Amino acid sequence: MEDRRLRVVGIGGTLREGSSSLAALRRALSAAEKSGAETEILDLREIALPMYEPGRALDDYGPEVREFVEAMRRSDALIVSTAAYHGTLAGVTKNALDFAQFLARDDRPYLHERVVGLISTAGGEQAASNANRAMVDTVHALRGVVVPLMVAIPRAWQKTDDDGNVNDERYGARLDQLGGLVVDLAVPFAFPTERVPAKSAA
Ligand SMILES: Cc1cc2nc3c(=O)[nH]c(=O)nc-3n(C[C@H](O)[C@H](O)[C@H](O)COP(=O)(O)O)c2cc1C
Repeated sequence: MEDRRLRVVGIGGTLREGSSSLAALRRALSAAEKSGAETEILDLREIALPMYEPGRALDDYGPEVREFVEAMRRSDALIVSTAAYHGTLAGVTKNALDFAQFLARDDRPYLHERVVGLISTAGGEQAASNANRAMVDTVHALRGVVVPLMVAIPRAWQKTDDDGNVNDERYGARLDQLGGLVVDLAVPFAFPTERVPAKSAA
Protein backbone atom coordinates (compact mmCIF):
# COMPACT_ATOMS: atom_id res chain seq x y z
CA MET A 1 0.00 0.00 0.00
CA GLU A 2 1.20 3.51 -0.78
CA ASP A 3 2.54 5.55 2.10
CA ARG A 4 -0.46 7.81 2.45
CA ARG A 5 -3.93 7.65 3.91
CA LEU A 6 -7.14 7.32 1.94
CA ARG A 7 -8.62 10.76 1.37
CA VAL A 8 -12.39 11.09 1.92
CA VAL A 9 -13.97 14.43 1.06
CA GLY A 10 -17.40 15.36 2.40
CA ILE A 11 -19.61 17.75 0.43
CA GLY A 12 -22.71 18.99 2.08
CA GLY A 13 -24.95 20.88 4.29
CA THR A 14 -27.40 23.46 3.05
CA LEU A 15 -27.20 27.23 3.42
CA ARG A 16 -29.26 26.92 6.62
CA GLU A 17 -27.40 27.72 9.81
CA GLY A 18 -27.35 24.59 11.97
CA SER A 19 -27.89 22.37 8.92
CA SER A 20 -28.95 18.82 9.82
CA SER A 21 -27.44 17.40 6.64
CA LEU A 22 -24.12 18.96 7.65
CA ALA A 23 -24.42 17.35 11.10
CA ALA A 24 -25.03 13.96 9.47
CA LEU A 25 -22.08 14.47 7.15
CA ARG A 26 -19.79 15.30 10.06
CA ARG A 27 -20.79 12.09 11.82
CA ALA A 28 -20.13 9.91 8.76
CA LEU A 29 -16.80 11.61 8.08
CA SER A 30 -15.74 11.09 11.65
CA ALA A 31 -16.44 7.35 11.23
CA ALA A 32 -14.37 7.35 8.02
CA GLU A 33 -11.54 8.94 9.97
CA LYS A 34 -11.81 6.27 12.68
CA SER A 35 -11.49 3.70 9.88
CA GLY A 36 -8.13 5.20 8.92
CA ALA A 37 -8.96 7.84 6.30
CA GLU A 38 -7.99 11.48 6.31
CA THR A 39 -11.02 13.64 5.75
CA GLU A 40 -11.94 17.09 4.58
CA ILE A 41 -15.35 18.72 4.86
CA LEU A 42 -16.61 21.10 2.18
CA ASP A 43 -19.36 22.99 4.01
CA LEU A 44 -21.48 24.53 1.27
CA ARG A 45 -22.78 27.32 3.52
CA GLU A 46 -19.23 28.35 4.39
CA ILE A 47 -17.90 28.05 0.83
CA ALA A 48 -20.85 29.87 -0.79
CA LEU A 49 -20.26 28.67 -4.33
CA PRO A 50 -21.69 30.76 -7.16
CA MET A 51 -23.93 29.04 -9.69
CA TYR A 52 -22.13 26.83 -12.19
CA GLU A 53 -22.05 28.59 -15.54
CA PRO A 54 -21.44 26.50 -18.69
CA GLY A 55 -18.59 27.87 -20.80
CA ARG A 56 -17.08 29.96 -18.00
CA ALA A 57 -13.41 29.06 -17.41
CA LEU A 58 -12.33 27.84 -13.99
CA ASP A 59 -9.84 30.73 -13.75
CA ASP A 60 -12.71 33.20 -14.13
CA TYR A 61 -14.29 31.96 -10.89
CA GLY A 62 -13.02 32.95 -7.47
CA PRO A 63 -10.53 30.94 -5.38
CA GLU A 64 -13.37 29.20 -3.50
CA VAL A 65 -14.42 27.44 -6.70
CA ARG A 66 -10.87 26.49 -7.67
CA GLU A 67 -10.25 25.09 -4.18
CA PHE A 68 -13.55 23.21 -4.27
CA VAL A 69 -12.73 21.61 -7.64
CA GLU A 70 -9.20 20.78 -6.47
CA ALA A 71 -10.58 19.08 -3.33
CA MET A 72 -12.85 16.90 -5.48
CA ARG A 73 -9.91 16.13 -7.77
CA ARG A 74 -7.69 15.03 -4.86
CA SER A 75 -10.39 12.83 -3.32
CA ASP A 76 -10.24 9.05 -3.28
CA ALA A 77 -13.84 8.90 -2.09
CA LEU A 78 -16.67 11.30 -1.35
CA ILE A 79 -19.60 11.51 1.01
CA VAL A 80 -22.36 13.82 -0.20
CA SER A 81 -25.07 14.95 2.20
CA THR A 82 -28.09 16.95 1.08
CA ALA A 83 -31.46 18.06 2.37
CA ALA A 84 -34.64 17.18 0.53
CA TYR A 85 -36.19 20.26 -1.07
CA HIS A 86 -39.53 19.84 -2.81
CA GLY A 87 -39.22 16.10 -3.05
CA THR A 88 -35.63 15.81 -4.27
CA LEU A 89 -32.08 16.95 -3.58
CA ALA A 90 -31.50 20.59 -2.67
CA GLY A 91 -30.29 22.86 -5.47
CA VAL A 92 -27.22 23.89 -3.53
CA THR A 93 -25.99 20.29 -3.60
CA LYS A 94 -26.74 19.76 -7.26
CA ASN A 95 -25.00 23.02 -8.14
CA ALA A 96 -21.91 21.91 -6.19
CA LEU A 97 -21.83 18.59 -8.05
CA ASP A 98 -22.15 20.40 -11.38
CA PHE A 99 -18.65 21.80 -10.77
CA ALA A 100 -17.35 18.23 -11.33
CA GLN A 101 -17.59 19.27 -14.99
CA PHE A 102 -14.12 20.76 -14.45
CA LEU A 103 -12.82 17.21 -13.88
CA ALA A 104 -14.09 16.03 -17.29
CA ARG A 105 -10.66 15.96 -18.93
CA ASP A 106 -8.73 14.54 -15.97
CA ASP A 107 -6.97 11.16 -16.14
CA ARG A 108 -9.72 10.04 -13.76
CA PRO A 109 -12.58 11.93 -15.45
CA TYR A 110 -15.39 13.28 -13.28
CA LEU A 111 -15.72 10.95 -10.25
CA HIS A 112 -14.26 7.94 -12.01
CA GLU A 113 -12.95 5.28 -9.59
CA ARG A 114 -14.30 7.19 -6.60
CA VAL A 115 -16.64 5.57 -4.16
CA VAL A 116 -19.46 7.91 -3.10
CA GLY A 117 -21.56 7.61 0.06
CA LEU A 118 -24.94 9.36 0.11
CA ILE A 119 -26.94 10.96 2.93
CA SER A 120 -30.18 12.95 2.85
CA THR A 121 -32.23 14.60 5.55
CA ALA A 122 -35.88 15.64 5.27
CA GLY A 123 -38.66 17.21 7.28
CA GLY A 124 -41.16 14.53 6.35
CA GLU A 125 -41.07 10.79 5.81
CA GLN A 126 -40.45 10.22 2.11
CA ALA A 127 -38.35 12.93 0.51
CA ALA A 128 -34.96 11.90 1.95
CA SER A 129 -35.19 8.58 0.09
CA ASN A 130 -36.17 10.43 -3.10
CA ALA A 131 -33.20 12.76 -2.69
CA ASN A 132 -30.79 9.83 -2.27
CA ARG A 133 -32.22 8.16 -5.35
CA ALA A 134 -31.80 11.36 -7.37
CA MET A 135 -28.19 11.63 -6.22
CA VAL A 136 -27.55 8.05 -7.39
CA ASP A 137 -28.39 9.18 -10.94
CA THR A 138 -26.02 12.14 -10.66
CA VAL A 139 -23.16 10.07 -9.24
CA HIS A 140 -23.62 7.43 -11.94
CA ALA A 141 -23.61 10.13 -14.63
CA LEU A 142 -20.32 11.32 -13.12
CA ARG A 143 -18.96 7.74 -13.26
CA GLY A 144 -18.75 7.37 -9.50
CA VAL A 145 -19.47 4.18 -7.58
CA VAL A 146 -22.38 4.54 -5.15
CA VAL A 147 -22.08 2.79 -1.79
CA PRO A 148 -25.09 0.46 -1.51
CA LEU A 149 -25.95 1.63 2.00
CA MET A 150 -27.53 5.08 1.75
CA VAL A 151 -28.69 6.95 4.83
CA ALA A 152 -32.07 8.71 4.60
CA ILE A 153 -32.99 10.66 7.73
CA PRO A 154 -36.71 11.51 7.90
CA ARG A 155 -37.97 14.09 10.42
CA ALA A 156 -34.40 15.24 10.77
CA TRP A 157 -35.24 18.03 13.24
CA GLN A 158 -35.89 15.29 15.81
CA LYS A 159 -32.56 13.57 15.20
CA THR A 160 -30.04 16.41 15.13
CA ASP A 161 -29.37 19.33 17.45
CA ASP A 162 -28.36 22.94 16.87
CA ASP A 163 -24.78 22.18 17.88
CA GLY A 164 -24.37 20.03 14.79
CA ASN A 165 -24.70 16.62 16.44
CA VAL A 166 -26.79 13.61 15.49
CA ASN A 167 -28.60 12.76 18.71
CA ASP A 168 -30.57 9.71 17.59
CA GLU A 169 -28.20 6.78 17.86
CA ARG A 170 -30.16 4.59 15.45
CA TYR A 171 -29.25 7.04 12.71
CA GLY A 172 -25.86 7.77 14.24
CA ALA A 173 -24.99 4.09 13.93
CA ARG A 174 -26.05 4.03 10.26
CA LEU A 175 -23.90 7.06 9.54
CA ASP A 176 -20.97 5.35 11.28
CA GLN A 177 -21.55 2.28 9.14
CA LEU A 178 -21.64 4.39 5.99
CA GLY A 179 -18.36 6.14 6.87
CA GLY A 180 -16.67 2.79 7.47
CA LEU A 181 -18.07 1.27 4.27
CA VAL A 182 -16.87 4.20 2.17
CA VAL A 183 -13.34 3.51 3.40
CA ASP A 184 -13.55 -0.28 2.96
CA LEU A 185 -14.89 0.01 -0.59
CA ALA A 186 -12.57 2.85 -1.66
CA VAL A 187 -9.29 1.20 -0.64
CA PRO A 188 -9.08 -1.21 -3.62
CA PHE A 189 -9.68 1.70 -6.05
CA ALA A 190 -7.18 3.99 -4.39
CA PHE A 191 -4.49 1.41 -3.70
CA PRO A 192 -4.83 -1.28 -6.38
CA THR A 193 -2.35 -4.02 -5.57
CA GLU A 194 -3.17 -6.45 -8.32
CA ARG A 195 -5.20 -6.14 -11.44
CA VAL A 196 -6.98 -9.34 -12.42
CA PRO A 197 -4.82 -10.67 -15.28
CA ALA A 198 -6.44 -10.89 -18.68
CA LYS A 199 -7.02 -14.49 -19.80
CA SER A 200 -4.15 -15.53 -22.03
CA ALA A 201 -5.08 -16.86 -25.43
CA ALA A 202 -4.85 -20.64 -25.63
C1 LIG B 1 -37.41 25.01 0.38
C2 LIG B 1 -37.61 23.78 1.21
C3 LIG B 1 -38.24 22.68 0.68
C4 LIG B 1 -38.44 21.52 1.42
N1 LIG B 1 -39.09 20.48 0.87
C5 LIG B 1 -39.27 19.34 1.59
C6 LIG B 1 -39.95 18.24 1.02
O1 LIG B 1 -40.38 18.25 -0.11
N2 LIG B 1 -40.12 17.14 1.81
C7 LIG B 1 -39.65 17.07 3.10
O2 LIG B 1 -39.82 16.04 3.73
N3 LIG B 1 -38.99 18.11 3.64
C8 LIG B 1 -38.79 19.24 2.92
N4 LIG B 1 -38.12 20.30 3.47
C9 LIG B 1 -37.59 20.18 4.83
C10 LIG B 1 -36.10 19.84 4.81
O3 LIG B 1 -35.81 18.72 3.99
C11 LIG B 1 -35.61 19.52 6.22
O4 LIG B 1 -35.90 20.59 7.08
C12 LIG B 1 -34.14 19.18 6.22
O5 LIG B 1 -33.84 18.57 7.44
C13 LIG B 1 -33.30 20.44 6.08
O6 LIG B 1 -31.95 20.08 6.05
P1 LIG B 1 -30.85 21.11 6.54
O7 LIG B 1 -31.06 21.26 8.01
O8 LIG B 1 -29.55 20.47 6.19
O9 LIG B 1 -31.10 22.40 5.83
C14 LIG B 1 -37.94 21.47 2.74
C15 LIG B 1 -37.26 22.57 3.27
C16 LIG B 1 -37.09 23.70 2.51
C17 LIG B 1 -36.35 24.88 3.11
